[in-house]
Amino acid sequence: MHRILVTGGAGFIGSNFARYQLKHHADREVVVLDKLTYAGNLDNLRDLESDRRFAFQQGDICDPAAVRAAAAGADAIVNFAAETHVDRSLLDPSAFVMTDVHGVNVLLEAVRELGVARFVQISTDEVYGQVAAGSSKETDRYAPRNPYSATKAAAELMVHAHHESYGVPALITRGSNTFGPFHYPEKMIPLFITNALDDEPLPVYGDGKQVRDWLFVEDHCAGIDFVLEHGLDGEVYNVGGGNERENLGVTRLILGLVGKPESLLRHVEDRAGHDRRYSLDCGKLHRLGWQPARRFEDALAETVQWYRANEWWWRKIKSGAFAEYYQRQYGDRKVLEDTAGD
Ligand code: NAD
Ligand code: DAU
Repeated sequence: MHRILVTGGAGFIGSNFARYQLKHHADREVVVLDKLTYAGNLDNLRDLESDRRFAFQQGDICDPAAVRAAAAGADAIVNFAAETHVDRSLLDPSAFVMTDVHGVNVLLEAVRELGVARFVQISTDEVYGQVAAGSSKETDRYAPRNPYSATKAAAELMVHAHHESYGVPALITRGSNTFGPFHYPEKMIPLFITNALDDEPLPVYGDGKQVRDWLFVEDHCAGIDFVLEHGLDGEVYNVGGGNERENLGVTRLILGLVGKPESLLRHVEDRAGHDRRYSLDCGKLHRLGWQPARRFEDALAETVQWYRANEWWWRKIKSGAFAEYYQRQYGDRKVLEDTAGD
């Protein structure tokens, strides 16, 4: 594989993946196609701009002409482009339906028309819905519970349909909660790190006993790279970190790493339809030879260090339109006194 089109490559995981490709594959060219929504940011790709193997094109995956132009000559497309924040999907699901479902269909049609040899759809453990006990296997049923995860599941069904109906060479990875450098500060870990650095409250939804499986972004990129190279068309692969943690525990770790008091922790009104726990069984990928390399606590400390050292990156974001979103999302949110000091 020589030329890879990375759609959504100006976002968090996509930009890390573009960097990973150029670092680990000397003969690889990377083209990024990104609409540059509020979450897309050319600062995420700044260090790659001088690499002659890298090119950026601004465009929408819902626009067939833009997709065809960017995909011409590509050996593979890896699709990260999506609306990704669950809270925003609760405020307005329509942008999610457009990009996360229709956009994926446009990409699949381009793959078929242009004869692209491989399409990897980056999906999520959220398509399984919440799991009370045990861990989700690739063969488990879909049970998404919020608009974001419903659109990601719908996209997967379109991928399967194109594979079965037209023989499109497509496969799917389902990643768990990812964290690390360039993570947009609307998500819990970067929001809490940057709030703590500024002595602002850390808004923990509900009792904070929800469980997520945390995966360092470099491990996620390595897992996707492994599937791109070794996966089989039509297959689905769970990519998890093996680090199940309660939100409350992660919040306390962050406060400790930043060196701020627990009095910054606030239990606030819960997210609607909040999934209680995600858990991935990653045996399939482990048996093929891939494992995550990083210990959660070490990777979290490295992430806190990155946010300390890169205020130029996140202060710009937090002072713009983000401030308006933050006010809408958290301004009038009820503080739950009965769970404070948990
Ligand atoms: P992100 O929100 O940081 O980045 C999304 C990127 O997609 C942005 O650069 C944005 O500009 C771009 N984009 C949005 N709509 C587009 C469109 N119509 N056309 C072209 N570009 C568009 O997201 P992320 O956290 O990096 O997630 C990337 C992918 O990984 C998503 O598909 C997401 O569902 C999946 N995923 C994320 C996680 C996680 O924890 N972050 C875990 C599992 C799977
Ligand atoms: O599981 C994979 C998914 O992880 C990805 O598919 C999504 O794109 C990504 O956004 C992420 O979804 P979550 O909803 O799990 O991530 P978020 O960072 O928004 O929330 C993590 C947990 O923290 C979740 O239980 C909700 C909670 N939370 C979040 C925020 C933003 C809080 O308690 N307070 C907050 O302010």
